[in-house]
Formats: sequence, C-alpha cells, structure tokens
Amino acid sequence: MTFSIDQFRLDGKVAIVTGAGGRGNSIGRAYAVGLAAAGAAVVVADINEEGAKAVADEIVASGGKAIGVRVDITDPASAAAMVDAAKTSFGGLDILVNNAALMAELGYQNIVDVPLESWNRTLNVNLTGALICAQAAVPAMRERGGGRIVNQTSGGAFPATGVYGIGKLALVGLTTTLAKTLGKENITANAIAPGNVKSDAGKQLVPDDSPFLQFLNMTVASRAQGEPDELVGALLLLCSDAGAWISGQTLHVDGGWVLRP
Ligand SMILES: NC(=O)c1ccc[n+]([C@@H]2O[C@H](COP(=O)([O-])OP(=O)(O)OC[C@H]3O[C@@H](n4cnc5c(N)ncnc54)[C@H](O)[C@@H]3O)[C@@H](O)[C@H]2O)c1
Repeated sequence: MTFSIDQFRLDGKVAIVTGAGGRGNSIGRAYAVGLAAAGAAVVVADINEEGAKAVADEIVASGGKAIGVRVDITDPASAAAMVDAAKTSFGGLDILVNNAALMAELGYQNIVDVPLESWNRTLNVNLTGALICAQAAVPAMRERGGGRIVNQTSGGAFPATGVYGIGKLALVGLTTTLAKTLGKENITANAIAPGNVKSDAGKQLVPDDSPFLQFLNMTVASRAQGEPDELVGALLLLCSDAGAWISGQTLHVDGGWVLRP
C-alpha cells in the first residue's frame, strides 16, 4: 500500500473525547476540535455539561459534526449512556480518547500522609474512569470491526510523582493491557504523555512565576511549555489509518522533558 496524506483523515469516523468541556482553553477542547477538523463526528463529553455543549456548538458553527453530553466517567451507567449517544447521533463509535482527569484541583499530595479519601478519589477518576469508559466503548468498536483508544497520561508519571503521577503511570499499564487484549480485534490502544501544557488548568498548576517553571526551563531538551493545539498532531496519528500499526505505546509530547537528567 502506498502512503497517502489522506491516511490522516477521519471522515466517517465517530470519536468520543472525555474531559473536553471544562475550562476555556483545555486539551480536551483542542482534541475535539482537531478530530472534527480531520472529519470525525465528535461526542464532546464532560462532567460539566454546559461546557461540553459549548465546545460542541463551536465545532458545529465551524462546519463540523459534534454533540455535547454530560458524563461522569466514574459511573458505568453514565459511560454507557455516553456511548449510546454516539451510536444514536452518529451510528457507532470508532475512537475513544480518555482525557478527563483531576489535576490542578488536586494540590500537593504528600504520599506519607495523603488521606485515603483523596487517594481513592484521584485513582477512581484518573485510572478507573478510563477503564470504565473503555469497557463501555469496546463492544461498540467491535460492532464497527475495530477502533482506537488513546489514554491521556502525563510527564508527571515519568517518574511517578504523587498520587496523580501514580495514577497516570498505572494508565500506561492499562494502555499496554488493552493493546495486548484487543489487538487481534483491530483495536489499538496508546497513550500520550504531555509535558507542561498551557491549558487554563496547566497555567493554574504552573504559573509564569513558579519555581517549577524555572526548573522546567533548566532541564528540558527544547521548549518547556506547549499549547493544547501542539498535542493534536500526535492524537491524529494514533487515531487515523496513518497510525494503524502503532499499539501499546506512550508518545511523549513534551519538548524532550522526559530526557532530563
Ligand atoms: N495541562 C497540563 O500541563 C497537562 C500535562 C500532562 C497531562 N495533562 C492531562 O491532560 C488532560 C487534560 O488536562 P487539561 O489541562 O485540559 O485540564 P482540565 O482540568 O481543563 O481538563 C480535565 C477535564 O476533565 C473533566 N472531568 C473531571 N472529572 C470528570 C469526571 N468524573 N467525568 C467526566 N469529566 C471529568 C473536567 O471537568 C475537565 O473538563 C488530563 O488528563 C490531564 O491530567 C495535562
């Protein structure tokens, strides 16, 4: 088969992006807009229903296909309803992007005395939520003869830092397990590990004057911070025919920060 640039197109595909309707400038929003620009019909899903519908409206206004739905990814019935919305509105499901997570709101979690309630809540959303959405999505992907799962991990998992990093590292384990389990069914599973991204949540976590940003600047191979839109190319590769043979991988999109000493 000769390579064609059209292999990056997603016309006729249906995608769900979780966590795509939250704060104004979010990674999930960039993912949803990017998938729609590549031709996919997108279910913009978030616990913030108003935000999800606003992003879907934005996509439709620019000529794309999208709906906005409320989902709580920790609730299997809610995840099933999200997949049903994809089937009812667009006829099926091909792509699941597990992007929703708790991050900026977590604050510093000292592992020695982190309350178990905080540990459980973090892992329930950031790890179990991705499993619940995959369990809801895979039967619909099987009906289409294949699919793509992309889990949003983090540079904070390499090495794991805090409960957040532990959950994001475990998400890599979920990714490789899904890849091995589903590969023969033409379903790939991969992860994206962003460095520090200047989403609204990322800026809250790492303000311009933070000592951590100075540390990033000193240790990163190229550029310390990226924009949400700079992750979209990696997502399109992993969701399109261009990336059909890639599975079980974690793609670091971080200016080379993972190479730090
Ligand atoms: N911004 C960064 O620097 C950075 C770096 C590495 C990884 N990430 C990851 O990228 C993803 C998006 O980050 P962001 O910066 O856009 O943050 P964000 O806070 O804007 O996005 C997270 C979204 O998840 C939603 N959400 C939370 N709990 C939910 C639930 N139970 N059900 C459904 N939705 C829920 C929130 O409403 C929010 O819209 C997250 O997985 C985050 O961990 C971000």
